[in-house]
Amino acid sequence: MGYVDYEVDGHVAVMTINRPKALNALNEEVLKDIEAAFDAVDLSEIRAVIVTGAGEKSFVAGADIAAMSTMTKEEGERFGKFGNDIFRKIETFPVPVIAAVNGFALGGGNELAMSCDIRICSENALFGQPEVGLGITPGFGGTQRLARLIGPGKAKEMVYAARNIKADEAYRVGLVNAVYSQEELMPAAKKLAKAIAANAPIAVRNCKKAVNEGLQVDMDQAVVIEEKLFADCFETEDQREGMRAFLEKRKIEKFNNR
Ligand code: CAA
Repeated sequence: MGYVDYEVDGHVAVMTINRPKALNALNEEVLKDIEAAFDAVDLSEIRAVIVTGAGEKSFVAGADIAAMSTMTKEEGERFGKFGNDIFRKIETFPVPVIAAVNGFALGGGNELAMSCDIRICSENALFGQPEVGLGITPGFGGTQRLARLIGPGKAKEMVYAARNIKADEAYRVGLVNAVYSQEELMPAAKKLAKAIAANAPIAVRNCKKAVNEGLQVDMDQAVVIEEKLFADCFETEDQREGMRAFLEKRKIEKFNNR
């Protein structure tokens, strides 16, 4: 995976998009490498994933403008589908994915961050969908996920006016959960990932499914989704051990993902 560095720290995988000369912009190869990195995750071991960008300046500065500049309508459609399919795979990836946004998250960069479960960022982060200034719409989910995350009014302002927002505003509108100094960002991402990884993995996965799938349907159907995923946990060793430890007033040693 030439454009994505992959490291494992205990039960946490860290993926670093590494094309700093182009501020980690997403061309087809980078997208393929991101997909390959997710395909390579050993789900028997990994319980949370962190996605970040190489360098101090940029998470991802968008889809590759040079590569898009000569695309035909058909090529544009294919490129949009290619990115959308990968970002949907991240959104529905079985374990939680944290975006550690360490700088520019523009266009496809903001869209990548939004396909993750949780976003935290550094003080120098900048978020936006500048596509209309390039004569296109956001193409990797920006017209859909931004409105769902921060509401249609604010999303439309950002998208129509191509208005970028800094870290403090991103925090205020709920696009990110927290803002850290550049040095503190990765330690904070790892601390959060490790806190997730310490919990019963099947229960965490079921929570992700319940939230994501429940948001797509009405509340009557949503609670049925929850009931099923809640019930499934009672077939796991981790549920038995988790509750036994509580009743025996002892600390859980570790969850075994069974
Ligand atoms: N695509 C291709 N190359 C990019 C890029 C992108 N999205 N963003 C930056 N680069 C390249 C620059 O061309 C430059 O390359 P050279 O050194 O070879 O000239 C290099 O990265 C460094 O960039 P700058 O010199 O521009 O750096 P800067 O600090 O002056 O500015 C920036 C940084 C504000 C992020 C600026 O680079 C910029 O505006 N980039 C484009 C952001 C953008 O519009 N993103 C949306 C793309 S469209 C999209 O994403 C569609 C979609 O939804 C699928």
